[in-house]
Amino acid sequence: MVPLVLLVCVLGRGTRTHGAEKRRMATQPIEPARIEWDADGVPRSPAFGDVYHARIGAQAQARAVFLDGNGLPRRWAGCCDFTIAETGLGLAHNLLATWAAWRTDPARPARLHYVSIDAHPPRREDLERAHRDQPHAELAAQLVQAWPPLVGGLHRLDFENGALRLLLAFGDVQELLPQLVFSADAFYLDGFAPDRNPRMWDPRVLKALGRRAAPGATAATWSVARSVRDGLASAGFVCERVAGPGAKRQTLRAHHAPRHRSSPVTPQSAPPGLARPPSPPRRAIVVGAGLAGASCAAALAALGWEVTVIERRAVQPDAGQARLAGILHATVHAAENPHARLLRAGALYTSRLLAGLDAQRVPHDRSGLLRIEQVLGLTAMQERIDALGLPADFVQALDAASASARAGVAIDHPAWYYPGAGWIAPLAFIADRLAQPGIRCIAGSTVHALARAQGGSHDEWQALDGEGRVLAQAPELVLANAEQANTLLASIGAPVFALSRERGQASRFDASVPLRCALAGDGYVLPLPGAGLLCGATRSPDDDDPMPREADHRANFERLSRLCGLRPPVDPAAWQGHVGWRVHTGDRLPLAGPLPARSIAPGTRLDQARLLPRERGLHLACAFGSRALTLAPLLGELVAARIAGTPLPLEQSLIDAVDPGRFIVRAARAASALAGLSPPMGATRNRAA
Ligand SMILES: Cc1cc2nc3c(=O)[nH]c(=O)nc-3n(C[C@H](O)[C@H](O)[C@H](O)COP(=O)(O)OP(=O)(O)OC[C@H]3O[C@@H](n4cnc5c(N)ncnc54)[C@H](O)[C@@H]3O)c2cc1C
Ligand SMILES: C[S@@+](CC[C@H](N)C(=O)[O-])C[C@H]1O[C@@H](n2cnc3c(N)ncnc32)[C@H](O)[C@@H]1O
Repeated sequence: MVPLVLLVCVLGRGTRTHGAEKRRMATQPIEPARIEWDADGVPRSPAFGDVYHARIGAQAQARAVFLDGNGLPRRWAGCCDFTIAETGLGLAHNLLATWAAWRTDPARPARLHYVSIDAHPPRREDLERAHRDQPHAELAAQLVQAWPPLVGGLHRLDFENGALRLLLAFGDVQELLPQLVFSADAFYLDGFAPDRNPRMWDPRVLKALGRRAAPGATAATWSVARSVRDGLASAGFVCERVAGPGAKRQTLRAHHAPRHRSSPVTPQSAPPGLARPPSPPRRAIVVGAGLAGASCAAALAALGWEVTVIERRAVQPDAGQARLAGILHATVHAAENPHARLLRAGALYTSRLLAGLDAQRVPHDRSGLLRIEQVLGLTAMQERIDALGLPADFVQALDAASASARAGVAIDHPAWYYPGAGWIAPLAFIADRLAQPGIRCIAGSTVHALARAQGGSHDEWQALDGEGRVLAQAPELVLANAEQANTLLASIGAPVFALSRERGQASRFDASVPLRCALAGDGYVLPLPGAGLLCGATRSPDDDDPMPREADHRANFERLSRLCGLRPPVDPAAWQGHVGWRVHTGDRLPLAGPLPARSIAPGTRLDQARLLPRERGLHLACAFGSRALTLAPLLGELVAARIAGTPLPLEQSLIDAVDPGRFIVRAARAASALAGLSPPMGATRNRAA
C-alpha cells in the first residue's frame, strides 16, 4: 500500500479541469415536446411520427404493459426503497399510474424512486392538457405544480412527504444515461417505436440500462421488435413475449440474469475489496449544524436514517442572528462550466424545497432575484440565454428600465432576472431541517477527534470530545464542520484539504425601503420582512475578528449605493452587522462525497475520482464558499444518497466535480505529465458507463 499522504500531502492545490472532463460537462439545451392531439384526443409526436400511447388509453396501457409487465405492485411489497427507471417520461402517464398504484397499496415500499429520462419533456401547459380528462387528476395537479423549468440535466421532485421521489433527467438518452447513477429494480422502456426512434433502443443504451439493473431487476415494453429483444439479451436480460392489451397482440417482459456482472453502476459503487456490508445499520453522525450539516441530516433522515448531529455552538440563535438572510440564485455562464451547472441545479432544488416551507416559520422569498450585469449589453445577454437554450421561467435578460420596475429602485444596468430565486433566513432554515423526525441534536459539544471502534458486526466511527469520551458512534459519519473538518481528518492521520477562510461582514438597518426583491452584482441587497434591508458583504482573507466593524459597514453601504442608489440612516448607531466566514477550496467548488481511502494500493486507477477506493463510512460536506444556500440542500441530498444507495440527484460529471477525490486525480495527472508519462492508468479511456 502507498500511503496517500506521499501522493498528495495537502489535497486541493491542483485546480485545472481536464479537457475531456470539460467536454462531458456541457448540458444540451432542451427542445420541448411538440404535441398534436388527434380527433380522439390521442397525443402524437409529429417529430417522431408516433403516438404517446395506444388507443386503449394511457392508464390501461401503463397498468397492463409497464406495471403488470414488471410484476408490480407485487414485487415492491415490503421493500424500504424500490427504484423504477423509465426511458421516455413523455406525458408522465406511466408515472401517475405507478404513483396511484403505490398510494393505494398497503404493502407499498417506504420510498418509491422513479428515474425518468426524456429529451423533449412537455411544456407545463401540455402536461396539464394531457391530464385534463384523465384519472388521477389530483396527482397530475401536483406534478404540474412542481413541474420544473425545462433546463437540461437532473431535477429531483419530491411528493408524498418525500416518499415518492421523482428524478427527472432532461436530455438525450445516449448523452445522459451514462451520467446517471442508480440501480433500478424495474425498467419501463417507452421511447416510441424502435423503427421510428432507433436512438432510444440502441444496443449501447440497453447495455447501459443492464449495468444499472439491481439484482432481480425486470423490464417491460410495448415493443417486441427483434432488435429490442436482441439488444436486451446482449444487456443480460432474458425476454419473454406475452399477450398484449387491446389490439396489441404481444408485448415484452424481461428479467435481468446476466452471465457475469460487469462493474455495475450503483450509487455506492465501491471498488472490489471495499464492498459495503449488505444491510448496514442505518445510523449516521453529522458533525456541524450549519447549512451543510442540517441539509445532510435532513436528507438522511428522510431516507429513514437515525441521525445524530453534533454542534459545538448552542443551536438557538439570538434575535439579531434570526434576522440574518442570504440570497440563492443560479448563474448564466457562456462556458457551461461545472460551477454554472452546479449552481443552476442547486438553485432550482433549493427553490423547490422552499416552495414546501411555510414563510412565517422559515422566512424566505422565492419570487425572483435580479443580478445586475456590468459588462454585457442586453442583446449579448439574450444571445447567451438563447445559445444555452434556457427558458424564461429560469432566466430572463431585462433592460435597466424593466429591472428597475421589478425591483422598485433605480438600476442603471441591464440585469439577469431569475424568477425562482430569492433569499432565505438561514438559521430558521437550519432549525427546520434539524426538526425533521429521526434527527437528534447534541448542541454545545465539540468533536475533538474521530476514532474507529467495533460496533456490532462492523467497524463504526466514533466522535470523541476533548476528554476522549464518545459523544456518538455510528457506521457513517459526515464532516460538515467547514474548515474544522481538517482537524478531524488530521486526528485519524488522513490528508487534509487546502482550504482558505475569508471573513465576511453583512450590514443591516431597519427603515422603510422601496426595494421589492433581492439584487446581486458587486455585493447584494435584500428587503427584510417588516421593514429594513440587509446588504453585503465584505471579504477579508485570514481575518479572525468576530466583531462588526464600522469601516466594513461603510464598504457595504457604498456597494449598496452603487447597486441601486439606496443609502443607510446617517447615524451609525442604527447600523447592525453580522460577521461570518466563508470556506473555499482551490477550485471554488465544495467538497461533497466520500473521503478517499487513506492508503491506496499500487496499480489503483487514479484517472477518475469515481474509481478511487474510499475510507469506509466517512464523508465530507464542506467548503461551500459564499453559496451554501444555493448548494448545500442539493449536495446534502447527494451525500445522503451516496450513503443510502439511492439514485444520485446529480450527473456523474458534477458528482466528480465536487468529489473530495478530485484533487488526487489532478495530482496524479500533474505528476504523470511532469514525469513525461502517459496519463495515469486509463486516463485516455472514456468508457460510456
Ligand atoms: C457575510 C456573509 C454573507 C454570506 N451571504 C451568503 C448568501 O447570501 N448566500 C449564501 O448562500 N451564502 C452566503 N454566505 C456563505 C454561507 O454563510 C456559508 O457558505 C455557509 O454558512 C457555510 O455553511 P457550512 O454549514 O458549510 O459551514 P458553517 O456555517 O460554518 O457550519 C459549520 C458548523 O460546524 C460547527 N463545528 C465546527 N467544528 C466543530 C466540531 N469540531 N464539533 C462540533 N461542531 C463543529 C460550527 O460551529 C458550525 O456551526 C455568506 C457568508 C458570509 C460570511
Ligand atoms: C411514447 S413517449 C413516452 C410515454 C410516457 N412513458 C408516458 O407515460 O406518457 C416517448 C418519449 O421518448 C422521448 N424520447 C424520444 N427520443 C429520445 C431520446 N433520444 N432521448 C430521450 N428521450 C427520448 C420522447 O420525447 C417522448 O416523450
